[in-house]
Amino acid sequence: MRRRLVVGSVNKIRLGIIGAGNIGGVHIREFSKLANLCEITAITDTYLPLAEARAEEHGIAHVAATPEELIHSANVDAVIIGVPNQYHASLAVQAIEAGKHVLIEKPMGINAEAAKQIYKASEASDRVVMIGHQMRWEAVPQLIKEQVDAGELGKIYTAKTGWFRRKGIPGWGTWFTKMNESGGGPLIDIGVHMLDLALYLMGNPKPVSVFGATYAEFGPRKKGIGTWGKPNWNGTYDVEDLATALIRMEDGSTLTLEVSWAVHMDTDNTPFIHLMGSEGGASYKGASGKLLTEKFNRAIETDLKKPEDDEGERLRLSLHFLDCITQGKQPITSALSGYTNNLILDAIYESSRTGNEVKLNWDI
Ligand SMILES: NC(=O)c1ccc[n+]([C@@H]2O[C@H](COP(=O)([O-])OP(=O)(O)OC[C@H]3O[C@@H](n4cnc5c(N)ncnc54)[C@H](O)[C@@H]3O)[C@@H](O)[C@H]2O)c1
Repeated sequence: MRRRLVVGSVNKIRLGIIGAGNIGGVHIREFSKLANLCEITAITDTYLPLAEARAEEHGIAHVAATPEELIHSANVDAVIIGVPNQYHASLAVQAIEAGKHVLIEKPMGINAEAAKQIYKASEASDRVVMIGHQMRWEAVPQLIKEQVDAGELGKIYTAKTGWFRRKGIPGWGTWFTKMNESGGGPLIDIGVHMLDLALYLMGNPKPVSVFGATYAEFGPRKKGIGTWGKPNWNGTYDVEDLATALIRMEDGSTLTLEVSWAVHMDTDNTPFIHLMGSEGGASYKGASGKLLTEKFNRAIETDLKKPEDDEGERLRLSLHFLDCITQGKQPITSALSGYTNNLILDAIYESSRTGNEVKLNWDI
């Protein structure tokens, strides 16, 4: 899992960051640790003072006045998109068509139609297009994936994933809780992480249908507010605060997905996945996990733990992006995986609206 970084690389990849907010700051922090491989040469944000402050603090040479200027800058090889979900597709497509490699924050699109645009642009280009699903680089899921790939779990016939936040609505009234800017609530915010990771650990079976339901019992009443993100009480809350779904795959396997920003439930707010295989199982819960099987007629368990000196999933994600660019590789979180996630999310919302199972339409 660990890789020694190559020191003294000659052609550094020049990065431009669109969006200087929360996740923009995370990208600056992590790529700065890889300064032997890359350099952040430009940054922009619709709120320019924020971009200027980040540039000043981190020695970024250029603050572009607009995303378009940054995308077309000759000093940028790769663009990192960390803005509200509604802008992902237009910026990503522009960047790909301008010949830039692109790292797009999750979710890939605000909906499947937007994700399809990115997927098509990616297919028509030789650039690296990667989605920021950092949970795939977390230590415990990586240990589980090794066992899945070695066949130790046998056939994974069902899995269960979720993340219940008890009181965690982020930034009430900001873009997070506005359907037209975010595309949804906890399902598209944290559910997309769990969906992506669960499908990956299951071996990327092809999803074919979805039954889902979403609820908004807290947000509209200004309840369930978390500590993260400043509320805007003049804003809007028109997204769900809990979602539940069953996803059926072509090979007959199934996945249940359950997430909340707010719920009256005994929960420790930890993301989880349980994989149930014919020969063994695996459970992931935050920084720990278990491998489970039966031997000598006894239930056997092996504990998994994130190492104390773990360098972190975001660093491994950043390194993977740079590796894909230098080695011309397809990222493990490709545009197809992002599109798959968006297709399922749309189907869950549709199923909730109609009360029916929704068959996924894979026509591109
Ligand atoms: N991987 C993760 O775990 C993770 C964590 C947080 C956020 N995200 C994702 O990152 C994205 C941004 O989230 P955030 O928490 O950083 O939000 P944020 O509100 O903190 O920051 C977004 C920034 O984008 C700027 N902006 C808005 N529209 C823009 C545009 N068209 N062009 C340029 N700048 C624009 C805003 O001024 C703001 O500074 C979202 O897609 C979110 O889902 C991912």
